[in-house]
Amino acid sequence: MSGDVCKLSMGDIVSLCKRRGFIFQSADVYGGLQGIYDYGPLGVELKNNLKAAWWRSIVHERDDVEGIDSSLITHRLVLQHSGHEDTFSDPMVDCRDCQCRMRADQLMDGKCESCGSKNLTEPRQFNLMFRANFGALQDESSFVYLRPETAQGIFTNFKNVVDSTSRKLPFGIAQMGKSFRNEVTPRNFIFRMREFEQMELEFFVEPGSDEKWHGKWVEERVNWWKKQGLDSDKLKLFHQPKEDLAHYAKATVDILYEFPHGFEELEGIANRTDFDLGSHSKNQEELNLFAKVLPNGDSNSKLVMQDLENNSQFVPYVIEPSAGLDRGILAILTEGFRREILENGSERVVLRLKPHLTPFKAAVVPLAKNNPRIVEKAREIANHLKMLGLGRIKYEDVGNIGKAYRRHDEIGTPCCITVDFDTFEAVEESVTVRDRDSMRQRRIPIKELEFFLKEFYNPGS
Ligand code: GAP
Repeated sequence: MSGDVCKLSMGDIVSLCKRRGFIFQSADVYGGLQGIYDYGPLGVELKNNLKAAWWRSIVHERDDVEGIDSSLITHRLVLQHSGHEDTFSDPMVDCRDCQCRMRADQLMDGKCESCGSKNLTEPRQFNLMFRANFGALQDESSFVYLRPETAQGIFTNFKNVVDSTSRKLPFGIAQMGKSFRNEVTPRNFIFRMREFEQMELEFFVEPGSDEKWHGKWVEERVNWWKKQGLDSDKLKLFHQPKEDLAHYAKATVDILYEFPHGFEELEGIANRTDFDLGSHSKNQEELNLFAKVLPNGDSNSKLVMQDLENNSQFVPYVIEPSAGLDRGILAILTEGFRREILENGSERVVLRLKPHLTPFKAAVVPLAKNNPRIVEKAREIANHLKMLGLGRIKYEDVGNIGKAYRRHDEIGTPCCITVDFDTFEAVEESVTVRDRDSMRQRRIPIKELEFFLKEFYNPGS
């Protein structure tokens, strides 16, 4: 390689994602739905791998975190008492000349972003939550919300988790999954969507230790993103000014990444104090009637911990590292995709992903598709590697070897294993293993392949 490398633009990334089966516009056969995307055959592998890495590092590798998976459909009272019904809105304006709808807080010089007109409506608040009818009745009293964050399902299950696991502070509850926001201006591909996934941890601590834990989690989370392959030069911390904080937060530090459209938020780490548990507890008291009709007859649903020394109860504080999964995917693709000019002047597009994230872990390629001995050996190797539990292994018999290498470079496959005529030359059968990044090839005995690959894919959570 001559060393000439260039990053891809957002447009290049969007079209590569479609062409190679990572991400598609949802319902594109009907013209698409703005801000909604589907993950294709390679995208779903990448997404599942990133989720698995997060879960491993937040739940499996720690002793102080439990996981849950709560419902997407959310009781209206939960989001009323969390403050979302009153405050989860963006200011919206319409252009009277071209009817474009925009966020008032993102306007440049008070002009319409589409036609430049200043003939705009007054800003009005637009609540971002999706409502849905619940049950057969379709009146004002029977609606529910699709959750706008996964966090509330954690807060409302706080007592269930404490009671069923006997947890003491400090400890966390994690979950990942879909969230829904009716964004006024979804844009920048999967950066701002109307349906997206979050990976959230609510880490409950003693009041007074919250600032120390906040700092610790900021550090942990930056390090985790680096392990997913993001370059430290492209990561920045942003301390939100007091006037911009969400209604629940005492302090928030955002981890910003340099996306193709600039430095933007990848994850927020908030000190949510006792706001959420406090407001759900207080309102449980107010809703005593509601508590009394719980099926288990439990009317004591206060979301508190016991202070055994002073024989009293208190509401824990919570630190919340909240990451966007789709933004993580976009950051990893932005970081990984590059166009390289090789020494012979030719060009290749390569996706440099960490091996634990790649959609395919290896491609097994028979050099001669019409040679039964080579084909049979290649199939045998692919079938064996599939059973190791490393992830997807591709048996690749389309096109010539050069094209197979280029295709796998472009989708990030870390190595191609080729069965060729030399495989059967020596007593010990061997294959060629070509490395995606260096493009170097080396011969490895077939019996050492399993060990080689297990070392290579040692998960980088
Ligand atoms: N529970 C706290 C919370 O939801 P947030 O800053 O609104 O805080 C957390 O969202 C993360 O979720 C963001 O840092 C971002 O990565 C992701 N996110 C938020 N809105 C999004 C959207 N419309 N599309 C894609 N990701 C989004």
